[in-house]
Amino acid sequence: MTLSRRGFLGVAGLSVLGAASLGSLVLPGAAGQTAELMRSRARLPEPFTVPLPIPPVARPVRSDASADYYAITQREASVEILPGLRTRIMGYDGMFPGPTIVSHSGRRTVVTHRNELPVPSVVHLHGGHTPASSDGFPTDVLVPPDWDMAHGMGGKVTVGQQDYVYPCAQRAATLWYHDHRMDFTGPAVYRGLAGFHLIRDDEESALPLPRGERDIPLMITDRSFDEDGSFLYPARDATMRVLPGVEDDYMEGVLGDVLLVNGAPWPELAVEAARYRLRILNASNARRYRLSVPGVPFVHIGADGGLLARPATLDTLTIAPGERFDVVLDFSGQRPGTSLTLQNGLGSGPTASVLRFRVTRRGPDDSRVPARLSSVPRLDPARAVRTREWRFTRGELGDHKGWLINDASFDAGRIDADVSLGELEVWRIVSDLHHPVHVHLDPFQVLSRQGEPPRPEDAGWKDTVDVLPNEYVDVAVRFTDYAGKYPLHCHNLEHEDMAMMATFRTS
Ligand code: C2O
Ligand code: CU
Ligand code: CU
Repeated sequence: MTLSRRGFLGVAGLSVLGAASLGSLVLPGAAGQTAELMRSRARLPEPFTVPLPIPPVARPVRSDASADYYAITQREASVEILPGLRTRIMGYDGMFPGPTIVSHSGRRTVVTHRNELPVPSVVHLHGGHTPASSDGFPTDVLVPPDWDMAHGMGGKVTVGQQDYVYPCAQRAATLWYHDHRMDFTGPAVYRGLAGFHLIRDDEESALPLPRGERDIPLMITDRSFDEDGSFLYPARDATMRVLPGVEDDYMEGVLGDVLLVNGAPWPELAVEAARYRLRILNASNARRYRLSVPGVPFVHIGADGGLLARPATLDTLTIAPGERFDVVLDFSGQRPGTSLTLQNGLGSGPTASVLRFRVTRRGPDDSRVPARLSSVPRLDPARAVRTREWRFTRGELGDHKGWLINDASFDAGRIDADVSLGELEVWRIVSDLHHPVHVHLDPFQVLSRQGEPPRPEDAGWKDTVDVLPNEYVDVAVRFTDYAGKYPLHCHNLEHEDMAMMATFRTS
């Protein structure tokens, strides 16, 4: 792994920050963000002129008694994102977002990924309760068939294609899969390597929630575009081969000025005057959103790890990179012809709106949101065997500058914590700036923020928590299955690529 880590030696000019060691004194570049805006050179389209695309649901290539088998080819493609322009993407099956995989709880899902990209890849199922061999450790690369092996990263190298095996022994939830290669996750996801993976189960299917065409995944991302329609991204190494990370000015994170939902700019969704379930995913590299639909509250029903015990009504929903919220919006009181905008309170100008709903007509609706959704057993911190602290800060280590956890940069060969399966621990996450902290393998519960009660968005089983500047957040974690080596990291992908990742080992 030394090869690509050495790339950091070239990060010069950080001295312009001068204040690097002052951490929180460095102001975020935009309201509510730890990131900098990269402006498009292309003319931005009129909002609400393209229909919301729904990613196609993948069909298994075969099934047997216990498993469904899928095949996905990772390849480049040229697609129309901004009307009239072509954008070169990297996509699962050449699509952005990739195809949606739908698994039933308890049925194994095997996805054979074939890499036909010009670079190595790593597939991670975010939210998956997955054995380490298929979890996509950042150095376990799948390289294209003709890859020059000199670019391995010190982990397992698989050539051409690889079976990722997901037991899916977990409750219904909205998961997503995305690239996770060490040092290059930011540009890979930015170019399009992200898709939904939904898990359904009998408990959830028995509820009268909106379903079918009224159960809609929304992948929110921000991007910037060059004049010719290509993505703009301030990578230090556009070939995504040697030098990790982004130009100094963007090291806090990259914000685009075009908001895409399911890959389309400010789309419009035609809805009937009825209830809809929306599975909202923030798949942006660094941008946080504060969502609202004036006049229609969110009925929050599910978190990263599935249904809440009971629904909660929220007027705004703050969502950080990596997080998912399942909500129900009730349009039944809206007159046909009405338009409602999904707004972003943390944006300005074009980024202040995300999508528009246009109510077309009345429609029959026998859905409802029951007062009791599921059971969420509480992890009791009084039973914790220990408290561990994870400090997420800007920092430097010798010549190596970037983002650190407990004063250390990511080293794939180092174990930062040994955790026993079945043991409950309290993890205290301490932060200098905005860091959306994600833990692999099993979800956790947010106990408190700064010793105060958590915010409404923290409810239920989480795998990513939006930690704010100068804040500490206590979460209760308990890993129940699969011994192995897993990462925890910041889901601001520029921070992740610039070393804000650590490894825990379960046994
Ligand atoms: Cu969504 Cu480890 O990442
Ligand atoms: Cu994950
Ligand atoms: Cu971060």
